[in-house]
Amino acid sequence: MQIAIDGPASSGKSTVAKIVATKLGFVYVDTGAMYRASTVLAQKLGLDFGDEAGILAALKEADIQFKPDQAGQKVFLNGEDITLAIRTPEITNNVSQVSALAGVRTEMVARQRQIADQGQVVMDGRDIGTTVLPAAKVKIFMVASAQERAKRRYAENTAKGIMTPLATLQAEIELRDQKDSTRAISPLKKADDAIEIDTTQLTIDEVVDTILAIVKKNM
Ligand code: CDP
Ligand code: CDP
Repeated sequence: MQIAIDGPASSGKSTVAKIVATKLGFVYVDTGAMYRASTVLAQKLGLDFGDEAGILAALKEADIQFKPDQAGQKVFLNGEDITLAIRTPEITNNVSQVSALAGVRTEMVARQRQIADQGQVVMDGRDIGTTVLPAAKVKIFMVASAQERAKRRYAENTAKGIMTPLATLQAEIELRDQKDSTRAISPLKKADDAIEIDTTQLTIDEVVDTILAIVKKNM
C-alpha cells in the first residue's frame, strides 16, 4: 500500500506523515529532504543553484540516506550528517530553484519510486499523488491558510532560537508556494483523486485520525 501526502509549505505534511507511518508500520519518505539535500550538495560544491548539468553530475554520484532517530529522521549526504544543514534559510530559500530543474526531478523521482517498490510507504512532497506514485491507494492534499502556516513555522523557529519576523516567514512561504506551483515540471497540484484536508483549525492528532480513517476505508 502507498500513501501519498502533498501540499504547500508548512501545511503539516511531514509531522503527520511520520506519525501515520509509525502507526501503520510503513516506511516514511520525506521527498522534500531529498530536494533540500540536492541544494546542500550544490552549495557545498559552490555551484550556481541553476547549474543543471553541474548539479545533476554530482547528484548521480551522491549517496543520500535517511536514518530514523529519536527526534525523527537524520539525513546523510555521502556519509555526512546534513540534518541541520538542509533546514537553513539559505537552503529553504533556494530549494525551489534546484527542485525545478528537470534532470534533478528525474533523478529524485527514480530514487523515490525505488524506495516505494521495496514496501509500504507514506511519502510526502508536492508531486507524489500526481507524478511519483500516481497509483497510490490513498492520496491526501493537505492545506492551511498562509497565515496559520507562517505561525506554525514561527513557533518552530522560536523554539530553536531563530527570530525571523512572522511577516517575513509568511512572505517566504508564499513565494516558495508560488514557485513550486508554477514550475513547468510536476508543479505542486492536487491530484484529481486526492482528498483535501484543511488543517488550519485542526490539531496534529485530528489530522492523523482523519487520515487513518481514510486508510482503513481503503484497505
Ligand atoms: O517542509 P517544507 O514544507 O518547508 O518543504 P519540504 O517538503 O522540505 O520541500 C522543500 C522544497 O522541495 C519544496 O519547496 C519544493 O521546492 C521541493 N519539493 C518538490 O519540488 N517536490 C517534492 N515532492 C517535495 C519537495
Ligand atoms: O511538512 P510541512 O512543511 O508540510 O509541515 P511540518 O513541518 O510537518 O509542520 C509545520 C509545523 O506545523 C510543525 O511545527 C507542526 O508541529 C505544526 N502543526 C502541524 O503540523 N499540524 C497541525 N495541525 C498543527 C500544527
